[in-house]
Amino acid sequence: MENETHTVTCSAPVNIAVIKYWGKRDEELVLPVNSSLSVTLNQDQLRTVTTVSVSRKFQKDRIWVNNREESMENPRLKRLLAEVRRLTKEQGSMSGNGTRPPSHDCHMHICSENNFPTAAGLASSAAGYACLAYTLCQLYHLQVDVSLLARQGSGSACRSVYGGFVKWEMGEREDGSDSIAVQVAPESHWLELEVLILVVSSEKKAVSSTRGMQTTVKTSPLMKYRCETVVPQRMETMERAIVERDFPSFARLTMQDSNQFHAVCLDSYPPILYLNDTSKRVMQLVTAYNKLHQEERVAYTFDAGPNAVLYCLRETMSELISLVTHYFPPTPGNERNYIRGISSEDCRT
Ligand code: PMV
Repeated sequence: MENETHTVTCSAPVNIAVIKYWGKRDEELVLPVNSSLSVTLNQDQLRTVTTVSVSRKFQKDRIWVNNREESMENPRLKRLLAEVRRLTKEQGSMSGNGTRPPSHDCHMHICSENNFPTAAGLASSAAGYACLAYTLCQLYHLQVDVSLLARQGSGSACRSVYGGFVKWEMGEREDGSDSIAVQVAPESHWLELEVLILVVSSEKKAVSSTRGMQTTVKTSPLMKYRCETVVPQRMETMERAIVERDFPSFARLTMQDSNQFHAVCLDSYPPILYLNDTSKRVMQLVTAYNKLHQEERVAYTFDAGPNAVLYCLRETMSELISLVTHYFPPTPGNERNYIRGISSEDCRT
């Protein structure tokens, strides 16, 4: 019993925001300056799989990401583990099925793998921390809102806990207890909505989202207007567009919000530039395509990197793929430069 090893493996999906989270009002607790809303993507193409083992035999905590050992000195990771251990100690004892969870004072080995480029604006930290938080909750039988824990690893991770369409309510309380993710609609609500990701570059981004957010919050005058005036209204309109499956409104708001997110980045000092020339050509192509059809049939959005995420309805997808492969032909050695997906269900054990 003493030398027993407890192991749990779970997977979590990536989510891509259509109303972007950018900026913290509390760095320590990871509390955002605005609410945000995202679509959770299909786990078959984009997911993190995490295994956590706990044993008295382990000498220290260790973590491997994509088969490489990483430092445990990451403050977010340390905070998440400390919080899990605190809750385990507090909630302790038995689970519903009578099995005893591992003790809070054993060391753990964490092994996490993504099946897509890490840290290239493809929300790898979202899937990664959602998966870790979910796996730890399973392992220690914790009774807690998983999104609260995931948020403390990486803000956007709280939205990857649920499938379908998910909002992260910024909350009002100082302790962050109401800053949680809530599902707006399950994946089954809008099955015609599809996603195409154009992997423009799989290099690591130059400015981390943590540092980028700090610079924007400190220096961008446009940011105040975005948080106080623009986003609250957009959250409501976006939620309505999703509930009513109104693609043109969904698409317009998605593109407007991506544009404003990159505008506040440029408005920061020193300026932050995540888009490259290829990203801008994708924006122009989508704009020209929508203009031709006199309505929004495709939407683009870009996170903190140059990769484009395109949303469209299933009926448009084959034409979109032809268009994209015509204007952005695959290069030798990079034949799989786009990923097609649909929205997905919650984290899985
Ligand atoms: O969760 P973080 O710290 O990696 O920040 C993510 C920020 C964006 O991806 C740019 C926007 C979002 O809402 O996901």
